[in-house]
Amino acid sequence: MCGIIGCTGGFDTAAVLLQGLSKLEYRGYDSAGIAVLCVDGIEVVKCRGRLSNLSELVSGKDFGDCPVGIGHTRWATHGEPNDINSHPHISRDGRFCVVHNGIIENYMEIRDGLMSQGYEFVSETDSEVIAHLLEFNFRGDVIQCLRETVSQLEGSYALGVLCREKPDMLYSARKDSPLVLGLTEKGGIIASDIPAILSHTRDIYIAEDGEIAAVGRDEIVFYDQLGNIMDKDAVHVDWEVDSAEKGGFEHFMLKEIHEEPSAVRATLGNDAFDHMEITKPDRIQIIACGTAYHAGVVGKYIIEETAGIPVEVEVASEYRYRNQIVGKNHLTIVISQSGETIDTLFAMRKAKKLGSRIIALVNVVGSSIAREADDVFYTRAGPEIAVASTKAYSTQLAAMYMLADKLSDGTIGSKTLADIPGMIERIISKREDIQRFASELFGGSSIFFIGRGLDFALSMEGSLKLKEISYIHSEAYAGGELKHGTIALIEEGTPVICSMTQPHLFSKMAGNVKEIQARGAKVLVITTEDLAEEAAKVADMVVTIPEIDPIYAPVTAVVPMQLFAYYCAVLRGCDVDKPRNLAKSVTVE
Ligand code: AGP
Repeated sequence: MCGIIGCTGGFDTAAVLLQGLSKLEYRGYDSAGIAVLCVDGIEVVKCRGRLSNLSELVSGKDFGDCPVGIGHTRWATHGEPNDINSHPHISRDGRFCVVHNGIIENYMEIRDGLMSQGYEFVSETDSEVIAHLLEFNFRGDVIQCLRETVSQLEGSYALGVLCREKPDMLYSARKDSPLVLGLTEKGGIIASDIPAILSHTRDIYIAEDGEIAAVGRDEIVFYDQLGNIMDKDAVHVDWEVDSAEKGGFEHFMLKEIHEEPSAVRATLGNDAFDHMEITKPDRIQIIACGTAYHAGVVGKYIIEETAGIPVEVEVASEYRYRNQIVGKNHLTIVISQSGETIDTLFAMRKAKKLGSRIIALVNVVGSSIAREADDVFYTRAGPEIAVASTKAYSTQLAAMYMLADKLSDGTIGSKTLADIPGMIERIISKREDIQRFASELFGGSSIFFIGRGLDFALSMEGSLKLKEISYIHSEAYAGGELKHGTIALIEEGTPVICSMTQPHLFSKMAGNVKEIQARGAKVLVITTEDLAEEAAKVADMVVTIPEIDPIYAPVTAVVPMQLFAYYCAVLRGCDVDKPRNLAKSVTVE
């Protein structure tokens, strides 16, 4: 999704903006731009395509002494990705310049109103209305003007604003779209995401909904919704700057897979559940999207198995628009890497309004979901830059096991959990085997994933990983369900990845494997070392993971699936870290 950067003070403005935008590239974008405020006005440079196109345009300019600037990477929602629709957008009189993340839902109405006042629009975006509205509302006081403007906006926004009348200031506002700010020796800086400013400061102010900030060289003044100046504390972020860099790996995704052992160790070191009073609930609902949803599906199996509490797993975007029955003693678990996924955030708000207690499993410290939940457990995966979630998933699973242990009064225990990082290391050390299998199967136009029980939950994640980065069509099915329709798609050579880590379901799965083999499927089985010999009897290829208590198998068995997806994507020449059409943090509905 879109990214915002802005700075004021003694920075090399254009360079800092471009560098910040490069740190936001991972979020996904299709155009980029910057604006700098100079003595003779605001200058905007923007274009469709990669940041390298923008850098080329900027390198031909001499901005001279321009202490303030804003930058943006756009992921198109309203209007196609082209130069004009790119941000920043400038007001008719050139006084205001704006970058915007989010969606202005009432932009048509505002646009019609401004057009009747003689304003002309150059872009198809919803965001352009903000620049003109600022001009329309300006009567000399920028804060007052910003307050009035945002009060007229419906939808979500994080804004970076320049005003020609204030040549050394930068302004920001937010609602339902993340925004962070920092103050350094050189000046103030804002961004939509922590990695963009991590090299400048680790003490980060997290903007709250309704707050407006005036960012100067030496101070940031925060205003609440009523326009009162407010005190705000910075949060110290101890992520290493390097952890947001590739560190010698070809892609962030591969690096992040290699970080899974240390990330899971960090999760296991979090004792936050020990400090939470949790009365055993009558029912649990887990709400999340994408990979986090898949972690929730594993969570359902393990909580029901160990704690005997009924669990429903809900796709967040569906949860919001259904009649929900939430009782007094119901617990809601929200899972999100970014903590900013708007569907998850809104679903969480709904559950809270219905009276449920919320426990959030979140990676990004200080994110909206983390702040609004009743309790938060940080998964401590460190920054995840690749669009495809890897270490976020394994740490979410680790957190789920810890929560299940708490809910089941210690049934799970920590012994096997502590062994998991070492097991993941062993799997990664055998990555060349997986690379070889990928080289045999990456040409397939469709790859199926099947499993039973926890293996089915795991298959859903394996399939998502493959399709999102390699663009190979893929579906996950419960082993026993295939013959009710989907088996019609199996033909000579169709690759099927079968998870067989659950001994009590092994013979049933072996039966399913035979069914598809009889129809020509090429079968790759992922199983534990102790089951490998049996698996070899039915499989064309076998990937083994270390022997493990079956309940924990998903957290290790996912690693070969992630590596398989990675190598298929590389072999197909795909942009592994920034797959087409996808964004890292989905902050629009
Ligand atoms: C997974 O690889 C995807 N990038 C996506 O499904 C992601 O898990 C989903 O958008 C949820 O994100 P969140 O964890 O930040 O809420």
